[in-house]
Formats: sequence, C-alpha cells, structure tokens
Amino acid sequence: MVRARIVGTGAYVPERVITNYDLEKMVSTSDEWIVTRTGIRERRVVFPDQATSDLAVEASRRALEAAGVGAADLDLIIVATLTPDMWVPSTACVLQAKLGAKKAWGFDLNAACSGFVYGLWVVDQFIRAGGARRVLLVGAEVLSKIVDWEDRNTCVLFADGAGAVVIVPEDGERGLLGARMRSDGEGWRMVYMPGGGTAIPPSHESLDGRYHYLKMNGNELFKVAVRAMEEVARVVLADCGIRAEELDLFVPHQANLRIIQATAKRLNIPDEKIYVNIDRYGNTSAASVPLALDEAHRQALVRPGDLVLMDAFGGGLTWGAALVRW
Ligand code: ACO
Repeated sequence: MVRARIVGTGAYVPERVITNYDLEKMVSTSDEWIVTRTGIRERRVVFPDQATSDLAVEASRRALEAAGVGAADLDLIIVATLTPDMWVPSTACVLQAKLGAKKAWGFDLNAACSGFVYGLWVVDQFIRAGGARRVLLVGAEVLSKIVDWEDRNTCVLFADGAGAVVIVPEDGERGLLGARMRSDGEGWRMVYMPGGGTAIPPSHESLDGRYHYLKMNGNELFKVAVRAMEEVARVVLADCGIRAEELDLFVPHQANLRIIQATAKRLNIPDEKIYVNIDRYGNTSAASVPLALDEAHRQALVRPGDLVLMDAFGGGLTWGAALVRW
C-alpha cells in the first residue's frame, strides 16, 4: 500500500527573542501570569523587513537538505498559513520562486493552527492518487504582525516561526497510517481577524477600530480545544488499531501547556512522551507542529518505526489528528 512518508524535516525561527519580562514593560501582565496560565517564557518575533516566506524558505531549505531532495525535483508545494506575505499571489508561489522549484505547482492552505495537520491529509490524497511524488509541506507564520501589542489577552501568546517537511510515496508500513480532520464554522468568532478582507476592507475607520488584529475568546476556546483534540485523536487511533500506550511520541499543537497536558492526560499519554517547546516559542499556529516535529527528530526522539501522533486545534474552528509510523 502506498503511503505518504516524511523523509526530511526543517525549521526556522527568527533571531529576535521577546521574553515575558519584555512584555511586562508593554502591557499589564507578569512573567508569573504568563508562565502559570500558558507555559510560555519567551517567543521569537521577526524584524520589520521579514515576511512569512522569508521564514518558510529557511525551514524548507533545511528540510530539503535533510531529505536529500533538490528544490528542482519538487512537484507540489503547500504552505499552511493564516499570515500570507500578501493576498495575491499565494505564499506558496513566492516560496517556489525563492527556492527555484521550477517544476512544482502549489497553493496556500488556511486552517489556522490546524493548517499543518490538514496539509498532511491533503498531501496524502495526492500521493495515494499518484498526483505528486516530491512534496514540500510548510507551516509558516508571522503572527506578530497581526497581533495587537496593546491587547494582553493575545500579545503574550502568539509568535513567529516556520517548519517544513518533505513527503514522498512509500510502498510499505512506514508513513501516514491514518488521519481525521474536522471543522465547525459555527465557532468562527472564537478567534478571528475582522478587518482587511472583503467583509471589512482596509479603511481609516477599520484601522482606527483596530479591526486588523486577532481577536480571541481564549476561555471558550480552551474548553473546546481539549475535548476536540481528545476526540479526534481517539478516532484516529481506533481507525488504525493502535492503543495510546503504543505511541512513542505525541506532538500536539503548542497553544497552551495546560491544553497539551489536559489532552494528553485524557488520552493516557505520559509526560515523557509529549513533545513541548511552547516555553521557547509560544503559539506559532500552523508552524507549531512541524517546528516541534523537527526539534524532536533532531534530538533523536523519533526513530525509524516509531509511532508519532500529531494533534492540532485552531481558528475556524478546525482540528485534526494524524498518526505516522516514522
Ligand atoms: N496578563 C495578566 N492577566 C491577563 C492576561 C495577561 N497577559 N490575559 C488575560 N488576563 C486576565 C483576564 O483579563 C482575566 O481577568 P478578569 O478575571 O479580571 O477578567 C483573567 O486574566 C483570566 O482570564 P481567562 O481568560 O479566564 O484566563 P485563562 O486561564 O483562560 O487563560 C488563555 C487565558 C491563556 C488565553 C487560555 O484561555 C488559552 O490558552 N486559551 C486557548 C487559546 C487557543 O487554544 N488558541 C488556539 C487557537 S488560536 C488560532 O487558531 C490562531
């Protein structure tokens, strides 16, 4: 059976570090509040001249190098992002040009924080149908440019980064074993950016109203996120006939340490099998799962044959889980 297999990972975060102590000088917050409520200690933020594709290209080069695949050999590029460089063209096309991936075609995928996991499922469809053989899947975000730095409810959470994987077809037991994706549009107001699109196009009024920033009902999201991530993970494990105890690594979306721990507890996954880096990077939305996956892989926490469960939840609402045999 042909499966989509990840053969290389890469990640990139901007050099600029913003600590909780830096944020104490900007909004009414404290390191103590942020650490106990979220697990975040510091995050990475771009310089003004950096856009999402600049982070994506670095992560992609590292993933291609790890895979031993040349950019010229790629046939599909998917960039999961809610912060594209611009409306038109897609960030996938900008990335294609930066990489010199002349044979590829590509598009952006917006499923907020679930974008990378959604992307894995999309790539799997192309691979199994024979429509692609060398795929670059990227999760990249510059959330610092759509965050309201005067709103303590959101500015302490979101940050910038990119992660990428190269995926090829493989006939055998390794690769994507199963995945399930969900969405519930009824909940779209729980996290959204009202302005800048066709609903509220840019105007002096929209700028004055601060409509071009992320708005979030964190408390409501928190409750839904844990239930949703647990449910979809359980279904994927059942589909694949795998018990949670058999997992080698759980790589969840890094939105909040308490969400990660509560989800893992419900799934009976012990702490030592959970990959966490939210303390260093905050919530990087679509970049968070591939960033964590790349770190785990480079630390040799993922070995050939290991069972790795990825699980994400985000705006839309969207959520999904994917199980891979490495
Ligand atoms: N510093 C100090 N106090 C703060 C801060 C801050 N940075 N932010 C909020 N507070 C205050 C609130 O104003 C509130 O004060 P009040 O009681 O006087 O009104 C109090 O802290 C408690 O607020 P809660 O919202 O109840 O805090 P909670 O424990 O729920 O933590 C948090 C908030 C961290 C946002 C949490 O709810 C969370 O992580 N939610 C999930 C977010 C998520 O999953 N996002 C994923 C989707 S994002 C995407 O897709 C782009």
